[in-house]
Amino acid sequence: MDSIYLDNASTTFPKPPAVPAAVVDYMTNSGVNVSRGSYAAAYAAQERLLEVRQNLCELFNGPDCRNVIFTKNVTESLNLLLRGFVHPGDHILVSSMEHNAVMRPLVEMGAEFTRIPCNAQGELCTERMEECLRPNTRAVIMTHASNVCGTVMPLAEVGAFCKAHKLKFFADCAQSAGVLDIDMRAMHLDAVAFTGHKGLMGPQGTGGLVMTRELADELPPFLAGGTGSASDSERMPAFLPDKFEPGTPNLPGLMGLGAGVDFVRSVTPAAVLAHELTLTAQFLDGLTELERRGLVRILGRRDTVNRTGVVSIQTPRRDEAETAAALEERHGILTRVGLHCAPNAHKTLGSFPHGSIRFSFGWYNTPADVSRALEALEAECG
Ligand code: ALA
Repeated sequence: MDSIYLDNASTTFPKPPAVPAAVVDYMTNSGVNVSRGSYAAAYAAQERLLEVRQNLCELFNGPDCRNVIFTKNVTESLNLLLRGFVHPGDHILVSSMEHNAVMRPLVEMGAEFTRIPCNAQGELCTERMEECLRPNTRAVIMTHASNVCGTVMPLAEVGAFCKAHKLKFFADCAQSAGVLDIDMRAMHLDAVAFTGHKGLMGPQGTGGLVMTRELADELPPFLAGGTGSASDSERMPAFLPDKFEPGTPNLPGLMGLGAGVDFVRSVTPAAVLAHELTLTAQFLDGLTELERRGLVRILGRRDTVNRTGVVSIQTPRRDEAETAAALEERHGILTRVGLHCAPNAHKTLGSFPHGSIRFSFGWYNTPADVSRALEALEAECG
């Protein structure tokens, strides 16, 4: 039995063939370090890395390609950002749908924060933003798209609110980069944190943070060490990206990420989203019928408005973990079950502490995959 991979919100798979090819090509035919050696291969690798930064900068309409900082994942990007930006006495606004990648740094730092409420479908109650403000509120940080039920947050509206109230605005784009439109300028975003291995189709161990120059000046270096630049000083350079990129980067991974970004830009994020939503609509149609018969409960919206291709369900007649195991063992359907590192999102959706079975579609899934998932659910939950 072939397995059907429906866990693209965890990491996209498979990758476009050009991605592993770029990793292998780099390791086989180049393999040099960047910003260190003074020979042609080192300059060529450095140039390609700059091109990848430029492509990401254009994708997010960021300020300058040097402001694209590479990290190992979105979690590291968010820690770099939050641990550098939030000081004792600051108050931060988040949504009630955040992932632990945002919440745990804030909680571990003892930061003061307020959750802007979301409704039971996971949609931000924008009319409640004003009442969440305090005199010491300095920023809003928010997921762009929920990793539990796919709801998309209205970043442009929140950005306008931040501008009006002189707040910094940061987005966790783990689930949206490469799929949804992200426009730092139009959305008044000061920082975009992204991961490379989901919608951008790159390898695991790649990610980044794009930020304005003003914010970059305000943040201290998160790690310190050699950069191959300004080596006469034992302080970190103040210029970008070196200020935030000490040590040898994950070059094979970043070459793969570069190929992933090229792929996404060639097919366009709009086409990726349209494909995922076509599959989501088919899945929701089938699920709605199963819900009518009491076999499943859909979390979040039951239509494709303002969402990504991530769908969570509960199975009232059978334990979700058991159902997910049966989906794999008997039908080859691969999903993610549990709380998805987003406990408060599940509280918002009414699925805490039990969690849900999550199905997440990607570029390489087909309508036949969706039909098989629906048939499997019918067989296991009926
Ligand atoms: N945050 C990722 C997920 O939702 C890993 O599965």
